[in-house]
Amino acid sequence: MAFESVARLEDVPSGRGHHVAVAGLPVALFRVGDTVYAMEDRCPHADARLSGGSLEGCVVICPVHGWDFDVRTGFKPDDADGFAIPCYAVRIEAGEVFVDVEDEINHPRRGRRGEVSPA
Ligand code: FES
Repeated sequence: MAFESVARLEDVPSGRGHHVAVAGLPVALFRVGDTVYAMEDRCPHADARLSGGSLEGCVVICPVHGWDFDVRTGFKPDDADGFAIPCYAVRIEAGEVFVDVEDEINHPRRGRRGEVSPA
C-alpha cells in the first residue's frame, strides 16, 4: 500500500482529533499548526478512540480515563521507553492529507534510514 488520501486539511480541527478509517484500520489525525500527525485510533488501556480526546500542544488526552500520548511519537510524554501507539507517515499536498498505514514511523525495529529489520 502507499499513501492514501484520507481528509482535507481544513477538516482536521485544532485541539482535538479527527477519525478516519484507512485500509480497515482506525486512524486518528491530529493537527498541530500546519502539521498533521496520524496514529492508531485506539487507546492501549481500554480501546477508546483517541480522536475523541482533547489535544494540548502535541499531547492527546484519552477521553475515557485520561492517559496521555504524544501524537508525534506515540509514547506517553514521560515514558519514551514504554510501548508506543503506532504512528504513520503523513503527507500534505494541495490541502489534502495522505496517510500510509504501512509506513509505521515509530516501529520498534525501524533503523535510522527507515528500514525495518526482521524480527
Ligand atoms: S481507555 Fe484510554 S485511558 Fe482508559
